[in-house]
Amino acid sequence: MATVPTPADKFTFGLWTVGWQARDPFGDATRAPLDPVRTVNELAKRGAYGVTFHDDDLIPFGSSDADRDGHIARFKKALEETGMKVPMATTNLFSHPVFKDGALTSNNRDIRRYALRKTMRNIDLAAELGAEIYVCWGGREGAETDVKDAYVSLERYREGFNLLAQYVIDKGYNLKFAIEPKPNEPRGDILLPTIGHALSFIQSLDHPEMVGVNPEVGHEQMAGLNFVHGIAQALWQGKLFHIDLNGQHGPKFDQDLVFGHGDLKSAFFLVDLLERYEYKGPKHFDYKPFRTDDDSGVWQSASSNMETYLMLKERAASFRADPRVKAALEASGLNELATPTLAAGETWKDLSKDSFDVEAAGARGYGYELLDQLALEHLMGFGK
Ligand code: GCO
Ligand code: MN
Ligand code: MN
Repeated sequence: MATVPTPADKFTFGLWTVGWQARDPFGDATRAPLDPVRTVNELAKRGAYGVTFHDDDLIPFGSSDADRDGHIARFKKALEETGMKVPMATTNLFSHPVFKDGALTSNNRDIRRYALRKTMRNIDLAAELGAEIYVCWGGREGAETDVKDAYVSLERYREGFNLLAQYVIDKGYNLKFAIEPKPNEPRGDILLPTIGHALSFIQSLDHPEMVGVNPEVGHEQMAGLNFVHGIAQALWQGKLFHIDLNGQHGPKFDQDLVFGHGDLKSAFFLVDLLERYEYKGPKHFDYKPFRTDDDSGVWQSASSNMETYLMLKERAASFRADPRVKAALEASGLNELATPTLAAGETWKDLSKDSFDVEAAGARGYGYELLDQLALEHLMGFGK
């Protein structure tokens, strides 16, 4: 069946996703800690390609050097035994109280220097494990009050990224950065809140070619934005270095639902877009299994993410192959959108030669109602 995941699908999971113990602001953990070695084994069994981690997911904060080496050694052994990969790693710059006013944008210079050291140390490990993407999610880089100077915070944020890029160049690592935007939570407002903010910030860096984005479905939807449009722009600008797939029901707290378990129609068009424009990076699930569920629910939800992606891929392909859809696309004029507005050799001067019936053009319908319903038919499995 097309919905059985295999490593060729490049599905990856953060250790912190299935490993979430379901502690929330109102309640204690409902699940026991998960050993990263077990996570690697369970995910490999279910057809995943790899795992990703924050430094502190693998090596508990404050571990001695000897303990650190031990944690890394058993993890590596599990990777070798299963063939699982580590295509991405990231830094926890948000849990410890030292980061409560930010890491790279903390007021305190010593904290900024510490955050950079913590990041560089984990970059070394990421490179050693073969990761090619380093995600930077600045959850604490923000404020609850606008008295915190966002202008100068951006100066420090840029300085931090420039330093880290230089570190990777000097070390000769084959590693690129992916900024993960989020509008709020845990800070009241987070810097680089959307894909658009991040893409613009990247252009101001010393090495913009080394930095792209890692957009997350729920984060754009928390800001009321269209995720499919955001991903289209990131792809179009060659900046979709990584993606966090999950689900969200509109602007509210970060739900981190299973992929497709929020706005399913948006997920359908997202998969359609990623497949048509041949996104080649890992399909990374950044979600949280329901707090209500036990260990079996955790592994069910892991499979659900991968199977939902594959079902949507199959549905999107069936939508595109339907002769009714092809005819409706032609009738809508959508195919003409790919034709440049000027013909080869034409300039603005040629536009004055057009004869054009503006009333007739204004009266024309575009047939999106039919196309939208055909998409729904295929999504629901009724399309032929
Ligand atoms: C969130 C974020 C995080 C980041 C992760 C990577 O849900 O608020 O997505 O999960 O992706 O910390 O640094
Ligand atoms: Mn999230
Ligand atoms: Mn994420």
